[in-house]
Amino acid sequence: MSNNLLKGKRGIISGALDPNSIAWKIAEKAFEQGAAFTLTNAPIAMRMGEIKKLAEKTKAEIIPADATSVDELTNLFTKSQEILGGKLDFVLHSIGMSTNIRKNIPYTELNYDFYTKALDVSAMSLHKMLSVAMKMDAISEGGSVVALSYIAAQRAYPFYNDMAESKAMLESIVRSFGYHYGKAKKVRVNSISQSPTKTTAGSGIKGFDDFFNFADSLSPLGNASAESCADYCITLFSDHTRMVTMQNLFHDGGYSTTGVSTEVMEKFSDK
Ligand SMILES: NC(=O)c1ccc[n+]([C@@H]2O[C@H](COP(=O)([O-])OP(=O)(O)OC[C@H]3O[C@@H](n4cnc5c(N)ncnc54)[C@H](O)[C@@H]3O)[C@@H](O)[C@H]2O)c1
Repeated sequence: MSNNLLKGKRGIISGALDPNSIAWKIAEKAFEQGAAFTLTNAPIAMRMGEIKKLAEKTKAEIIPADATSVDELTNLFTKSQEILGGKLDFVLHSIGMSTNIRKNIPYTELNYDFYTKALDVSAMSLHKMLSVAMKMDAISEGGSVVALSYIAAQRAYPFYNDMAESKAMLESIVRSFGYHYGKAKKVRVNSISQSPTKTTAGSGIKGFDDFFNFADSLSPLGNASAESCADYCITLFSDHTRMVTMQNLFHDGGYSTTGVSTEVMEKFSDK
């Protein structure tokens, strides 16, 4: 169902790897809501080919960019404005990667080169995107930048490894850059802290399925799906949230403010 919430808006959507990706759902919904956008991902993700299907479906052009490269991001913002015919109204940062997690290296024994890489790909890339966009004045007044986060930014989740620091840094960039970009150009910067979601990045985390079920039974509304995350994201791209900035917004079915649920308590009951 379309309310044309993004009619006439132009944007960049990063991070759509396959149909499970949160960014994939966001691209589908943004298209439904009338937006025009470019799609971007790391050149290596392009070789897997899936993104072309999304590009056809959403009439979007694909511009490869490694989000850690300022040059490639500069090209992304330049080409996107050329293709779409003007300044951008929204940008999605949906990027995360930890080699320590991929290689099953425990948190207490992290490889520091991989640790630095995780911070660069998953967090500093947001700073780079914002800095490139601001220097080029590529985002219109009232424009909206959204990044995806996870509650391990704020609380200990042993399995989340060095992605916890990556998300803590990401949320800090949302606040700090949000201040500067808001003052200078009235551009908004927020993060959505999403429920565990069955995607390539999510499922790569050890014990993910057990934790997915735990979070589902703790949350009064259950886990939030990728589709519902996309709906929420559309509202943040739209003009209905013009005064929301520098926030980390929980989209988790109530998980973050629930102490315990009856379902979880029942598992510990001795009756
Ligand atoms: N899946 C979950 O449980 C969950 C929960 C909360 C937040 N998130 C966050 O949502 C975002 C999207 O992840 P997802 O779950 O949709 O998984 P995903 O694996 O589909 O998406 C991650 C994307 O990051 C891209 N990427 C990796 N390195 C890159 C680089 N150097 N340059 C550009 N792109 C690069 C990948 O190609 C991929 O498209 C991530 O920030 C993730 O941490 C996921």
